[in-house]
Amino acid sequence: MPDKTLVKRYILNFHERDFSGIVPRELKVKTLPGRATIIVGPRRAGKTYYLFSLIDKNTPERYLYVDFEHPVFHPMTPGDFIDVLDAYRELYPEIKRPVVMLDEVQAVPDWERIVRYLLDEGYTVYVTGSSSKLLSREVATHLRGRSLTYTLFPLSFREFLRFKGVEYGGREFYRNLTRINRLLEEYLRFGAYPEVALPPEEIKELILRDYLDVLIKKDVLERHRVKNVHLLNELLYFSLRAYSKYVSFDSLYRLFKGRLRVTKRTIANYFAYLEEAFALFLVRRFGRSPKGRIVAPRKLYLIDTGLALFGEKDLARDAENAVFLELMKRYSLKPSVEITYWKDEAGREVDFVISENGKAKELIQVSLRLDDEKTRKREFLALLHASKRLDCKSLKVITLEEEGVEDVSLYGMNGRVELIPLAKWLLEGERLISNEGEV
Ligand SMILES: Nc1ncnc2c1ncn2[C@@H]1O[C@H](COP(=O)(O)OP(=O)(O)OP(=O)(O)O)[C@@H](O)[C@H]1O
Ligand SMILES: [Mg+2]
Repeated sequence: MPDKTLVKRYILNFHERDFSGIVPRELKVKTLPGRATIIVGPRRAGKTYYLFSLIDKNTPERYLYVDFEHPVFHPMTPGDFIDVLDAYRELYPEIKRPVVMLDEVQAVPDWERIVRYLLDEGYTVYVTGSSSKLLSREVATHLRGRSLTYTLFPLSFREFLRFKGVEYGGREFYRNLTRINRLLEEYLRFGAYPEVALPPEEIKELILRDYLDVLIKKDVLERHRVKNVHLLNELLYFSLRAYSKYVSFDSLYRLFKGRLRVTKRTIANYFAYLEEAFALFLVRRFGRSPKGRIVAPRKLYLIDTGLALFGEKDLARDAENAVFLELMKRYSLKPSVEITYWKDEAGREVDFVISENGKAKELIQVSLRLDDEKTRKREFLALLHASKRLDCKSLKVITLEEEGVEDVSLYGMNGRVELIPLAKWLLEGERLISNEGEV
């Protein structure tokens, strides 16, 4: 049971904290009465700081922030939380109900009971913690119908520039273009974890190495009590080299079976663990046939392009990965939108199909340089084929520099293709991130 005096000192210390260095994030959460707002996401994405950013700096005393990993709250049971509320009330008798923010909730067994109690009493409740135990799947079972879950990713390019203090809106984009392009290179190379944005390069690498180690050790190995550690490491390093490429469990199985004790099921399970820990994403092929969806190879993207420093770096693949992550952010509040890739029998490929309720809305190709005639034709032709098949007229190629609109006509197929530089495309998404259509 926590010591009340220590709890009071903890609460007062928190209210005296300096919140001035916190950069606002783009994620906009809505609170609904009777539902807890849960923030999930990869480790170190900024979930705790995100909670801090929601605090009104003029009235911090209206917030009760509890970090359950703080020694003051150790050990703790759901019943003990009444004492924490009492301690708060004795300090601030005039405030009827503070906004309650629960961090590192996984440290308290049965923490959902605290949340249900607070909701029943009419409190506004925010919850976050380490992704390893606070996965949407678990939260959904324990707080069924009583929560809204939001995902916080590492920084978008817009947020990254904000961290760097660089303006990019309207005319500023053109004024700061040289700087923005240089920062885009840094963004692709070292990725977008908030803590990695500011320090010098050698420190960035050390931080990223630490993040990768903790992610694997805590969120995958320990959490799932993985037996075949060697295989897991092999799959991880394969992923760090094969990002923005196809992965097929069958071919991995053939690759490993001579060398390791392995089954196809283990490979699929380990990839599922890596996905659950937000280390990577496996994107499906667009298609209506359920069988095709299951057996087609997936395309692999990392949660952060900086992690690829420990695999095999490639600018074109960094760019494609960054586009994928931006699409995830843009559509994370729209569960009816799906991101897939497209490929036909002749091997023609389109990197991203954005579809809503199964209907393709936009086709995006990422191809940094189109100067080479053959490349240009290949990318356009794939877009036209997909456009015809999927009956979708919104076609886009994300390039490094080329910009414009081109009316393309090939083999009797026609289409209008928009070419847009990566920096510009990454920055334009602001208006697309909103709460419209959520819940
Ligand atoms: N909005 C922000 N403004 C300034 N710095 C930030 C911001 N968000 C995150 N950071 C930096 O990144 C670090 C990690 O952020 P934070 O602790 O919020 O991540 P987390 O998602 O809660 O991580 P964990 O899963 O380990 O609890 C912070 O210590 C801080 O240095
Ligand atoms: Mg945290």
